[in-house]
Amino acid sequence: MTQHDRLLIIDFGSQVTQLIARRLRELNVYCEIHPYNKVDDAFLKSFAPKAVILSGGPDSVTRAGSPRAPEALWSFGVPVLGICYGQQTMMQQLGGLVENGHGTAEFGRAFVTPTTDKLSILDGWFADGREQVWMSHGDHVSKIAPGFLVYGTSPNAPFAVTADPARHFYAVQFHPEVHHTPKGAKLYENFVKLAGFTGDWTMGLYREQAIAAIRAQVGDKKVICALSGGVDSSVTAILIHEAIGDQLTCVFVDHGLLRLGEAEQVVAMFRDNYNLNLIHADESELFLGKLDGVSDPETKRKIIGGLFIDVFQKYANGIEGAEFLAQGTLYPDVIESVSFSGGPSVTIKSHHNVGGLPEKMGLKLVEPLRELFKDEVRALGRELGLPASFIGRHPFPGPGLAIRCPGEITVEKLDILRQADAVYIDQIRKHGLYDEIWQAFAAILPMKTVGVMGDGRTYDYALALRAVTSVDGMTADTYPFTHDFLGETMTRIINEVKGVNRVFYDITSKPPGTIELE
Ligand code: XMP
Repeated sequence: MTQHDRLLIIDFGSQVTQLIARRLRELNVYCEIHPYNKVDDAFLKSFAPKAVILSGGPDSVTRAGSPRAPEALWSFGVPVLGICYGQQTMMQQLGGLVENGHGTAEFGRAFVTPTTDKLSILDGWFADGREQVWMSHGDHVSKIAPGFLVYGTSPNAPFAVTADPARHFYAVQFHPEVHHTPKGAKLYENFVKLAGFTGDWTMGLYREQAIAAIRAQVGDKKVICALSGGVDSSVTAILIHEAIGDQLTCVFVDHGLLRLGEAEQVVAMFRDNYNLNLIHADESELFLGKLDGVSDPETKRKIIGGLFIDVFQKYANGIEGAEFLAQGTLYPDVIESVSFSGGPSVTIKSHHNVGGLPEKMGLKLVEPLRELFKDEVRALGRELGLPASFIGRHPFPGPGLAIRCPGEITVEKLDILRQADAVYIDQIRKHGLYDEIWQAFAAILPMKTVGVMGDGRTYDYALALRAVTSVDGMTADTYPFTHDFLGETMTRIINEVKGVNRVFYDITSKPPGTIELE
């Protein structure tokens, strides 16, 4: 969509390929990841990268038929950096030799020491005479290709850093993209500098170019957008609104499963601050009616997902002449990664989204965040003037409080849950912990227990409090609150929320638990 200096990452299936892209984006360099089997000579020409990085990968270049970089790359005339498997295929393809482990495999921390020759991508390295790096390889290069020299060695990788500076080919055995290679970011910085990148990937520029692209795509047609109040859909809506103003209508589906005051806040923010066409579809009765008596988690999710689509469609049909549907799809959702294991993965939970809607309604998609990682969306949100407190909000799942209310959902339980959750989050904010936590919320358990308050017996609901740290929601650790904090929070909840007489703190990590209770 946008025009920037571009770097191409050819993916050989490493677990950490996305981290390479993260490091480069942090340097304001635009890059894309493409699987090795989709990058042929023609692709290379049309992508026109200013530099290329070959990722690591699980295969062995000694195996017949194993992945290779396209031959055209070696005469393409741009700098190439090979990492781990990328180094090995570079050596093999250019006339060197790679051998199987035989006791020289290395996994984990290692130290690289420099040779006498200096190499520009290692500028700023070796202040202490050596540098910590992260290794993860079974094979190793046993003979470097003609034209290459060695610039760094480690005990088990005599060719830890090799290069042919005249042709701008660089190759490292270790992984500079992981945090355990502390000077890795510096290596990438040196590499993109020598490749001539100017750091032109900034959110200010992105905003301008994205707006121009939206105008070109949409023309004078109308766009509809499902606004959830989350960061991705909000940034999508505001960006499109900035591009086409009143041609955009947002539909905010209120399923009655939102947090205390949330619907009002979302509606006020978008109507008052952005003067955006917004339909507040209050369909809580419909959703809660259909969920009445349902306790199976997957059935709940399916009911909510199906109704959401029906309701959105109903309101969208009322918008005369809408031809486009806006979606907050992010770059991690569109990367086609190389799968070596094959086979479908098990469905743990059916996630809530509007996939399938565009075809069903005959709409074309506008996805202005397709090139962005999550933290870039936040940066763009700041650029567009969204308040910091809004951008930094914890994720909230599409099915809302339904999956924080195991068992049957009732209006009474939802009320208790809303109030308790608000007290809990208030406590976390007051103690300055909100930004340290990935996600925190209360859940109401499907049981009542006996308690004593004043001189009387109580028989009320039990709550579970959850707080986790995480990077991407895929794995999570319990947040280690102090006992004092937990005690104070319990007291406040019991005192301030009627209908609760017991509070648990959920200490389950993910795995084995999931973040949400259902
Ligand atoms: P789990 O419970 O699967 O959650 O460990 C991981 C992350 O995903 C969020 N989540 C959802 N987000 N629609 C969403 O938009 C969903 O259906 C959904 N289910 C879970 C959850 O809040 C956590 O951040």
